[in-house]
Amino acid sequence: MITPETFAARRTRLSQKLGRPILLMGCGTRLRNLPINELPFRQDSSFLYMTGCDLPNAAALIEDGKCTLFLNPPADDDALWHGHVETLEDHKRRYGVEAVLDAATLESHCKGMKLATLAVADAKATRRAASLAGIPLSYGKANGDDALIDAIIAMRQIKGREEIEELRSAAICTAQAFHSAMSGTHPGGSEAHVAALFRGCLAARGLSEGYNPIVTVRGEILHNPTYRNPLRDGQLLLLDGGGERETGYTVDITRTWPVNGRFEGRQASAYNAVLEAQLQAIELVRPGVRYREVHDRAAAVLTQWLRDEGLLRGSLEELQASQAHAAFFPHGVGHHLGLDVHDLEQFGDRAAYPPGRGRDENFGTAYLRMDMDMAPGMVVTVEPGFYVVPAILRDPALREKWGAQVDWDLAQSWAGFGGIRIEDDVLCTDAAPEVLTATTIKGVHDIEDLVGSGIPAIERFQP
Ligand code: GLY
Ligand code: MN
Repeated sequence: MITPETFAARRTRLSQKLGRPILLMGCGTRLRNLPINELPFRQDSSFLYMTGCDLPNAAALIEDGKCTLFLNPPADDDALWHGHVETLEDHKRRYGVEAVLDAATLESHCKGMKLATLAVADAKATRRAASLAGIPLSYGKANGDDALIDAIIAMRQIKGREEIEELRSAAICTAQAFHSAMSGTHPGGSEAHVAALFRGCLAARGLSEGYNPIVTVRGEILHNPTYRNPLRDGQLLLLDGGGERETGYTVDITRTWPVNGRFEGRQASAYNAVLEAQLQAIELVRPGVRYREVHDRAAAVLTQWLRDEGLLRGSLEELQASQAHAAFFPHGVGHHLGLDVHDLEQFGDRAAYPPGRGRDENFGTAYLRMDMDMAPGMVVTVEPGFYVVPAILRDPALREKWGAQVDWDLAQSWAGFGGIRIEDDVLCTDAAPEVLTATTIKGVHDIEDLVGSGIPAIERFQP
């Protein structure tokens, strides 16, 4: 839980940094074709961070740390259709703000003010903010007032005690959902069934999903959006999912397990290599360490293993220089995490790369989503992987780039392997890194014991 006092302290800090009135817009609801059929609502994360208010079509005007919330008053027949309806006065108490007013009065209250504001993932709210502040705004392009964005990034990227508790709590429920998914996996089952076990377990605990979970035997498709495949003996199943608390905090966990409950030959070898890469990379999540070093450590461990397997050839120095591991580990090692799964990513690389440090252009590291110096309170994911991606193996430009450094014929013999990713969420502290998602099992023996056991996770893994 995040207390009203914490929200108030955030607003005071933001006001002190900006020294001018701030207008934050919330998102509106979106329809599934019909007016009565709304898509699940999710509030803008910066709005949520500053107010805790998860009502649609809200706005917040913050002046000298004092906050007026602008909300739509309840309709006359809301009680009939939706049950108990809170009044604006109830909302004032609930959110601990100085005033709550009818949203229709926003324009008259903002008249003449030199407002700092932001775009949100809602076109109507963004147009309204642009008109009130008299500046061009467009979500993802012209995101808003620079000083406001920088202040919000600085605050949101360092998590406080209550936020970490939220993440710990989401991690425990998500672990249960993973264990339920593992225990219900068996040859002859389906991706759709495992996805339902995972989602049902989260829903039963009152959590929503921070993003659409990836549940697939085609783990080499990094963000495979469908659940259409049957589960067959000898395949690996990859699940990347995270439960989101009512407060908006989500975790982001990936595990990979064998459908039949036994890691065989190449699967065991690759799994242990990815796990070792992840464990060594996690150790580097410490104050002052560049996140790129976390990525490079995972890449180095995987390069060594790929060489031992014969998939890469040449000296470690040459392979490091050419980044040939990206033929099998083509994405970055992780990203910020918090109120969004790729936290702060709506501000582009501004929240992820400090001034003077930009994205690398090499295939692979170009997908590194951040390269900050770690600081206590930052939460990042660490998620190396190994994938056999047909599109990479037949790409003429990549074949030419790495030439004889990759044994393309041997790689071809791995076709159909799929992919392995192991992902945890890690808190940078003054001392050792804390793995917030450590409850979700990842040891080979623990996984082999659980997969297909059919034992409800809740009975075996009560935290
Ligand atoms: N959970 C998906 C990702 O991190 O990209
Ligand atoms: Mn992730």
